[in-house]
Amino acid sequence: MTDLRESALRYVRANKDAFLETYLEILRIPSVSTDPGQVEAVRQAAEWMAARLRELGMQAVQVYPTARHPVVYGEWPGAPGAPTVLIYGHYDVQPPDPLDQWESGPFEPTIRGEDLYARGASDMKGQVVASLKAVEAILRTGDLPVNIKWLLEGEEEIGSPSLEAFLLEQREMLACDFALNPDSGMLGQDWPTITYALRGLAYFELRVYGPAHDLHSGIYGGIVHNPAIALAELVSGMHDEQGRITLPGFYDKVRPLSAAERAELARLPTDEAHYLAQTGALALTGETGFTANERVGARPTLDLNGMLSGFTGKGAKTVIPAWAMAKISTRLVPDQDPADVYKQMVQYLEARAPGDIRWELDDLHGGVPSISDRDNPGVRAMAAALETVWGSKPYYRREGGSIPVVSQMQRLLGIESVISGFGLPDDNVHAPNEKQHLPTWYRGIEALVHFLLNLKP
Ligand code: BES
Ligand code: ZN
Repeated sequence: MTDLRESALRYVRANKDAFLETYLEILRIPSVSTDPGQVEAVRQAAEWMAARLRELGMQAVQVYPTARHPVVYGEWPGAPGAPTVLIYGHYDVQPPDPLDQWESGPFEPTIRGEDLYARGASDMKGQVVASLKAVEAILRTGDLPVNIKWLLEGEEEIGSPSLEAFLLEQREMLACDFALNPDSGMLGQDWPTITYALRGLAYFELRVYGPAHDLHSGIYGGIVHNPAIALAELVSGMHDEQGRITLPGFYDKVRPLSAAERAELARLPTDEAHYLAQTGALALTGETGFTANERVGARPTLDLNGMLSGFTGKGAKTVIPAWAMAKISTRLVPDQDPADVYKQMVQYLEARAPGDIRWELDDLHGGVPSISDRDNPGVRAMAAALETVWGSKPYYRREGGSIPVVSQMQRLLGIESVISGFGLPDDNVHAPNEKQHLPTWYRGIEALVHFLLNLKP
C-alpha cells in the first residue's frame, strides 16, 4: 500500500467521532423536498452542503437556484491530466410519515445498537457524508490524484424535475469522465454490491367520480355505480392472472433478458427466503416465468401506492361515496419510457372505464430507466475498492428503485455512472425508522478512499 492510502485510512479511523458529528448535523435538517412547508429547510440543507464543500477547499462552490430546490456545485481541479469524477448526491429526503411509528424523532438522529436512525440516514445523506469524508481523508493527508466535481441536488425524491435543465445549461462546467453515484445500497452487509441497472418510474393519480354527492347507501344503493368499487375494478384489471400488466403495449419496449444475464442474476445471494425474511410477507408473488431477483430488478411492475374514498373513520357509516382516488405507480425497465406509459394508462382507462363513471388522470412524475456500462475504469476502481475492504468480489445487480439522474447523465452529458452506496435492504428507506448500519458506513468511507486512489492514472 502506498503511504497516502495508509495515511488516509488512518485519518478515517482516527476521526470516526468527528465524522459522525457531521452526519448528525445534516440529519437534523428536515429537507423534505415534496413538502411546501419545508422549502426553507431544503435551502438550509443546500447551504450546509456548500459550507462543507468550502471547508474541504473545493473551488467555485455555489448554490444554484432552480425552479424548485437548489443545486449545489463545487470542484477540485487539482490533478491536471488525471480523470475527473463527478460525485452525485441528493440532500433531500422523503416525508417522515407516519410519524407515530418512529421510535425516535425522524429528525432527531439516534443511535441504537449499531444503527443510526433518522430520515435520510441511508437514503442518502449518509452516502453524501461518506463521500465528503473520503475526500477529506485524502486531502488532509496528501494530494487527491484525481479531479473532482460535486453535483448535489435537492429534488431527487420528487423525480429531479429541475435537473435536466441544469445539466443542459451547465454541460461545460459538469464535463467529466464519469460519475460516482452512491444512491444505491448493498445486497447485505457482507455482500459488497455494484448496481448496473435501475428501473424507471411513471407515477399517476387517478380520480373517479360517480354521483354528484355522497348518497345514503340504503336509499340509493342498487341503482348507481359506487365509484370506490369502480376504482377497485379498474385497478384490479391492471394485472392479469399471470401477474402481467394489461396496459396496452406496456411490454412492447421491454428489453428481453439474455440467458447470460439470467444466469448471472441467479447467482445472487438473495434467494426467495431472503425476500420473505426482508418483507415479512406470507408468500412471494408476481409475474409468472421470472425469478424474484428478476422480478425486482429486471421486470416492470405496477403498484397501488394508496387509495382514498368514502368513510374511513372509526365505526360504520352507510354511504356511497361520490368519488374515489388512487395513487398508482409503475416501475419501468429499459427501454420503456414514462411518457409512453402515461398514454398507455389513458388508453386502458378509455377502453375499460365504465360509462357511468367520469375519470381524471394526473401524471405526477417519472424517471427513465437505465443500464450502465460495466467495463470501464470507474467500475473497475470501485470493484477493486470493495474487494479490498470486504475481502470478496462485489455482486453486480439490477436495482428495482429509481435514480432518474443516471439516465439523464447518459443522455445529456454522455457519461456513465458507477453506482455503489452503503445502505442495506433493511434500512427502512422511505418508511418509519429509517436507519444506517454504522459499521457498514465506516467501511463505506474506506471503500471510497480506495476507489478515489485506485483512479490514479
Ligand atoms: N436511493 C433511492 C433509489 C433506491 C432505492 C436505490 C432503493 C436503491 C434501493 C432514491 O432516492 C429513490 O428513492 N428514488 C425514488 C425515485 C423518485 C423518482 C421518486 C424511488 O425509487 O422511488
Ligand atoms: Zn429515496
